Amino acid sequence: MQVAENFSLKQYNTFGVDVKARKFISVHSTEELRDVLKQTYASEIFVLGGGSNMLLTQDIDKTVIQIGLKGIELVSESQDEVILKVGAGENWHQFVLYCIEKGYGGIENLSLIPGNVGTAPVQNIGAYGVELKDTFESCQAMRIQTLEMETFSLDQCKFDYRYSIFKGKLKGEYIISSVNFRLSKRNHQLSTTYGSIQAELDKKDIKKPTIKDVSDAVISIRKEKLPDPRELGNSGSFFKNPVVRESEFKKLQGQFPEIPFYTLRANKIKIPAGWLIDQAGLKGFRRGDAGVHKHQALVLVNYGSATGKEILSLSKEIQDKIYGKYGINLEAEVNIF
Ligand code: EPU
Repeated sequence: MQVAENFSLKQYNTFGVDVKARKFISVHSTEELRDVLKQTYASEIFVLGGGSNMLLTQDIDKTVIQIGLKGIELVSESQDEVILKVGAGENWHQFVLYCIEKGYGGIENLSLIPGNVGTAPVQNIGAYGVELKDTFESCQAMRIQTLEMETFSLDQCKFDYRYSIFKGKLKGEYIISSVNFRLSKRNHQLSTTYGSIQAELDKKDIKKPTIKDVSDAVISIRKEKLPDPRELGNSGSFFKNPVVRESEFKKLQGQFPEIPFYTLRANKIKIPAGWLIDQAGLKGFRRGDAGVHKHQALVLVNYGSATGKEILSLSKEIQDKIYGKYGINLEAEVNIF
């Protein structure tokens, strides 16, 4: 267990904003986690995973618990699949690379997403047609009030677009300690139709892609569009892609015939917020050290010394502009504290 007081979180959030935690504790086992929770009031706890989906706008006058639980364990194996139990503190992308090396398929489209394994289910991370829920088997979590471990099945997690029960009804009540994944060992179900994956494979003249080829394609696409948090502070997509009713969409389409969209289900149309922001002329827009990324308008960046408040204020300016132009309310995808 590592304990520090008045601790800078600059290295612990991918936006790279410099806020301080009154107390910072890094835990490496469920026993350590239980000990810390025993000594801390529930209202005094702030849980930190990979810090990759979070905008910190103020010092945290609480005990910040960093979940450093590690380990990848083989739970069961058949000819076709494996179930792996993975510690919440494992880095997500390192875990993806581990699976690719072992030949386990299912999460290759989720390559290079920043963050840790334990926070991935909270917002059901997704990219290029695949979501975490597609390979999720269960997760283990400690209930803060009782310090008991509980297991959550796929159904119990209520996954949806960038959503789970841990963001809804159970927000702040549990700490995920590990996640079980069901991955394929053969006959991998590759998903190459979304976005530019197929184009990327064609470029390399790959006819029968392996899971590694798909992962490599995703990595090149992401590197082109999304800034590396180690070079330029960011938290991936800052906003969710808004979902509107068909009638509302038709009106927008009348006004903006080029508008891209995906039909989710009857009467539910998803519109890329990046396109809306881009078309509103805000791509590359900068206010001090806070800015809209040059290559992907959905990503806000910290050019160096922006504060969380400055990034938040830029995000509000964008929301106002988008509402004014399209009548759409953009909702933040990152957690704001
Ligand atoms: N677009 C623009 N201008 C921009 C950005 C996008 O016109 O500046 C257009 C694109 O041309 C395309 C459409 O918007 O027609 C969608 O863009 P893209 O494929 O880049 O994906 P996205 O909808 O912006 C979502 C996820 C990403 C994920 C990608 C790929 C959300 C909020 N974001 O972005 O997730 O990597 O799809 O699947 O759903 C994240 O959550 O942090 C994240 C990066």
